[in-house]
Amino acid sequence: MPLRFVHCSDIHLLELAGTTPQRFFNKRLTGGVNLLLNRSRKYDGGMFQKIVAAAHAHEAERLVITGDLTNLALESEFEHVKRHLEAVGLPVTVIPGNHDAYTRGSARAQRFEHYMSAFMEGEREPGSDYPFVQRLGDVALVGLSTAIPSLPLYAVGRVGDEQLARLGRFLAKLRAEGLARVVLIHHPVVRGVAKPRHDLLDLDAFGRVIAEHGAELILHGHEHRRLEGALPGPGGVPVPVHGVGSGTYLSQKPGRHGAYSLYTVRPGQVTRTYHRWDGRGFVADEPDAPLLAGTGSH
Ligand SMILES: [Fe+2]
Ligand SMILES: [Fe+2]
Repeated sequence: MPLRFVHCSDIHLLELAGTTPQRFFNKRLTGGVNLLLNRSRKYDGGMFQKIVAAAHAHEAERLVITGDLTNLALESEFEHVKRHLEAVGLPVTVIPGNHDAYTRGSARAQRFEHYMSAFMEGEREPGSDYPFVQRLGDVALVGLSTAIPSLPLYAVGRVGDEQLARLGRFLAKLRAEGLARVVLIHHPVVRGVAKPRHDLLDLDAFGRVIAEHGAELILHGHEHRRLEGALPGPGGVPVPVHGVGSGTYLSQKPGRHGAYSLYTVRPGQVTRTYHRWDGRGFVADEPDAPLLAGTGSH
């Protein structure tokens, strides 16, 4: 059975209630106040509701969000996001982004995992949170975390050697089962596309896992713009890498529009229609030609 789903990212839902001034004695959060004020002019959380309505209209089976659901990883923000996700009316899958581990305290407390666990249920190796695997018919969603707190002005990420090893084992197993593997990761994984200080620190190591085990599709966010790329899989067969713009960004600059994508994935084939914000609503680009996904294993 194919899986039809909507992918969006970087919704950065704003919730200012609960951001008491004393929280901002934390140096990292002091910078965060400016970020919030700036964001509130450029992003509109109401666009997320439009994406949800569109997902229902498309008869999507699931909504997939690749990180940066919050801005400062405050408890009040996670409560706000959780309420929105519980009201989606469709199954939801999420992974964290760097903003969801904005402070060391939020990362140490595993705040994202605490609030979002209902949207990350799946198979895991014992004792680890990531990757998690959701088997949905002939498709497996493989959720990773690159979320680490970084210094002010940095928005880097890291998968880490242990998580990469687990990823390799899952990809091998799912490939042997003939499932279409959709890898979810917040940061871009193709070299040279991230802004300076925005990189995935172990991008080459991630690329080596994909070169060895392959995947049918890799989805990410983080850059708030449309990115199209590929990584070589086994035998050099390209694995498509799609970056989607922010779901709530009001911009209409080419490539930087608010956006979501509608996918239908089945073993051997991926189809996508990219939708971008035109100032009033989301409009569909021409559907892509179907990508013949896969590494020849099925
Ligand atoms: Fe973001
Ligand atoms: Fe990000």
